[in-house]
Parts: sequence; structure tokens; C-alpha cells
Amino acid sequence: MTIDLQRLQQVASDAYAQYSTLSGGENASYIPFLASVPSHLAALAIVTVDGDIISQGDAEFRFALESISKVCSLALALEDVGPQEVQDKIGADPTGLPFNSVIALELHNGKPLSPLVNAGAMSTVSLVKASDRENRWLRILDMQQRLAGAQIALSDEVNDSEQTTNFHNRAIAWLLYSADAMYCDPMEACDVYTRQCSTLLNTIELATMGATIAAGGINPVSKKRVLTESNTPFILAEMTMEGMYGSSGDWAYTVGLPGKSGVGGGILTVVPGVMGIAAFSPPLDPVGNSVRGQKMVAAVAQQMGYNLY
Ligand code: DON
Repeated sequence: MTIDLQRLQQVASDAYAQYSTLSGGENASYIPFLASVPSHLAALAIVTVDGDIISQGDAEFRFALESISKVCSLALALEDVGPQEVQDKIGADPTGLPFNSVIALELHNGKPLSPLVNAGAMSTVSLVKASDRENRWLRILDMQQRLAGAQIALSDEVNDSEQTTNFHNRAIAWLLYSADAMYCDPMEACDVYTRQCSTLLNTIELATMGATIAAGGINPVSKKRVLTESNTPFILAEMTMEGMYGSSGDWAYTVGLPGKSGVGGGILTVVPGVMGIAAFSPPLDPVGNSVRGQKMVAAVAQQMGYNLY
């Protein structure tokens, strides 16, 4: 598809102007670090499969990847064990419950259903092939970096803030273990999962992750193949079903694109074969999605006619 870059630039600029100062929502407060990020920050970035970059606002500000990291570990697990094993051991259905729900596990005999909720993400981390804890972490970090085409670092500040407050996730990891849905030491999976959420990146790098998936696994900035092409539809399907948590259905209904949000305020959306669209702004709605981010991404998708359905 040929993209009219001038029009895209105008649409991005309009979306940013209209929604980047919208009121409403609150920073995540259950992780102390996230509560301290300035709420006024806002950014929108687009990276096309040809490597063209458009950005608006605080697009170079580095924020915590949080739940969007679940897409990266899913991508690595698909490379390591293949789509069948991911579907059999984790699943591909929405839970219909909050991202850290214990009830969702209880209702399905301990099967997490989706790699994009906390339980499924820790189970996914445990499926990644690794010789030990550090190797598991470094392989996941490496996947984040290759998808983004950038150096991505762990924030000790975010990680300390999460590791000292993640008791609920530790309990979920043990529940998974008791249901035979954990494939490495449960505290190793919880630790590595917490670290993968605690890396920092900017909105352009996030959009590049989306562009890499959009391009069938070749990073349009680094030009390197990161994913097996046939694995990318499985990532997009999981994002469609659970990427925006309790509003994944509404997102599909109104925007019509696979998306993934994080409580750091980031949102990643993929237009398959065309581009990654990312946004960042810390205030979240009650399900955990950035209020301004959703509006900015939706405006670009709608103005450009990118609804897949
Ligand atoms: O596990 C947690 O609670 C966080 N580290 C990440 C959760 C998250 O981003 C959920 N997103 N909307």
C-alpha cells in the first residue's frame, strides 16, 4: 500500500492537537514509580513498514513498557516453541476479567487463556527456552531490542518499585505452578516478567515494534528479520482478543486494529502490512488504558481508514 505521508503527517498533527491535553483518567498508582510520572506528557508516533517515521509531542520521553512487554515475550515463545504449544498451554481467548485476575484462573482449571494477561504472560515467560534465570531475562530483553531496533535498558527504579510490590503476581505464579501451567521455577518467571515490564523506551521505539510486526517480522529501521513471518498473525490475533483488556471488544468495534496497552501509559497498534501506531500519556481509564493515547491512535486509524473489518 502506498502511503500519503504528507496526509498522514497532517492527520497525526491534528490527532495530537485535539487529544493530547484531554482531561480524565489517572496515573497507575499501584506501582509507586508510575504514580510519579508527569501526567501532562503526551506523544504520538507512527513508523511505516518502509521505515518512515512521524512523531508528535514528547515522542522521545522514555516510559515503562509494562504490559506491552507481553507482546515481546509472546513473540519469543512463538519462535521457541511454536504456535500450537502456545495455544495448548496458554490459550488465545479473552478472560473477560481484569488483567491480574485470579478468578479467571480458577474458572478455567488454571489455564491462563491469554499470554496478554499477567497469568498468561508469566506462563509465557516460563515457556521461553533458557539455560538459567539470567539467560531467560537477557533473551527477552534482546527480543524487545530487536523489535524496537534500539538499545532498551532496565530501569532499576521501576524494577525496584515493582519487585517490592508484586505480591499479587507472585501468588498468581504459584497458582499457575499448582495447576501445572508453569514451565520453569515460578519465582523465576515472576522475577523475569517483572523485569520485562520495567524497561524504558520512547514512543518512536514503541511504534517501531509495531512496524516490525506489521512488516511480517522484518524491522523496517534495522532491516533485520526478527520474527518468523508465519508467527506474526498469531501475535495479532492475541492482541485483538485481549490487548486492550476489558475494552478489547470495544476497541475492535470502534478502531478495528490489534492493539496492546500498558499501565505506563503506552499503547501499541498494528496496521498489518502498513505501519505501527504508538501513543503515550500516563493517565489511564478504569481498565488500565491511556485515555489520551486511545483517542490519538483511534483518530489516526479512523481518519486514514485503517479499520480492518
Ligand atoms: O504486572 C503488573 O501489574 C505490571 N507490571 C504490568 C501490568 C500492566 O501494564 C497491565 N496493563 N494495562
